Amino acid sequence: MRAIITAVGHYVPENKLTNADLEKMVDTNDEWIVTRTGIRERRILDKDKGTSYMAVCAAEKALNQRGMSADELDLIIVATVTPDMMFPTTAALVQEALAANNCWGYDLSGGCTGFVCALSTASQFIESGRHKKVMVIGADKMSAITNYQDRNTCILFGDAAGAVILEATDDPDLGVKDFILRVDGFGKKYLYMKAGGSLKPATHQTVENEEHYLYQDGKPVFKQAINGMATTSATLLERNNLSSHDLRLLVPHQANLRIIDAVGKKLKLNPEQVAINIDRYGNTTAATIPLALSEYYQQGDLKIGDWILFTAFGAGFTWGSLLMRWALNGSASD
Ligand code: COA
Repeated sequence: MRAIITAVGHYVPENKLTNADLEKMVDTNDEWIVTRTGIRERRILDKDKGTSYMAVCAAEKALNQRGMSADELDLIIVATVTPDMMFPTTAALVQEALAANNCWGYDLSGGCTGFVCALSTASQFIESGRHKKVMVIGADKMSAITNYQDRNTCILFGDAAGAVILEATDDPDLGVKDFILRVDGFGKKYLYMKAGGSLKPATHQTVENEEHYLYQDGKPVFKQAINGMATTSATLLERNNLSSHDLRLLVPHQANLRIIDAVGKKLKLNPEQVAINIDRYGNTTAATIPLALSEYYQQGDLKIGDWILFTAFGAGFTWGSLLMRWALNGSASD
């Protein structure tokens, strides 16, 4: 039994935060942001909505595309670091909103690698024969944990969600083929939220110290990200007897255009083999990969049998890659 993607949808909020807007908020400029990151604008969700809102919108699009009732789902996995609340899970909120009445679900906190982690675990539920239909969502409202007075981080992040439906197939030539995932807590000090967890619960002082925002020391993250994504991707290709020519599309986590370019170069890929939309959305953490995949599918750029490689790097550190063969023809309208 193999796991194939049978539908993919995404949601981005309408409200745009451009580089020109950020120039009015912190000491930065469009030229610096574009040359250092490749980002031109991001989407920002309304203050009164949480991550589950975007997750539900993306999931509904995937269900509609497939013509599937939410009742048919066995499992919902939501990859996120910005759950609506500490508990219950965002998956529970999504289940209720979709009226998916025959499933269980959980959240997966894997930082920017969260979606790849969720896809790998979902595929194994299907390969085992235990489940037939799994909704995998990557969704983050990064604006909720971003300090818009910190120019080091506020230029990077945005809000979005993407969702795929994974189903079982007997066709041995399609679907999730292989993956490599890693975690190393060595990276914990470079990208984290200082307070609000059980180690340092929220107090007036922690809020005053602005410790509930994302903190990042960008340089070490940058270096490790290129290495982690390129190494796991190259190993996956090699151990599956594939060359860079065989790959239709690399869908990398969108954290920085320079990181994406460096990974593409190391893998000897042409520009048209690399999915890029960071210019329009910034880093949407767990949402970047399904969002980019959804856009490429909508454009009609993918066909059955295409080899696709997902690769990501994020807080933890976590990193890894997943190789699959595309199982859908044509394109989907939004
Ligand atoms: N506008 C203008 N100047 C800025 C700035 C901004 N928004 N942000 C930082 N700078 C300044 C810095 O203060 C520094 O000034 P200094 O030399 O006087 O101290 C200078 O620009 C260079 O900063 P630096 O941090 O060295 O830039 P960089 O080239 O490393 O780029 C990041 C910074 C964050 C874009 C980059 O490190 C990065 O993308 N890191 C990885 C991000 C990532 O992958 N995160 C998520 C993983 S999921």
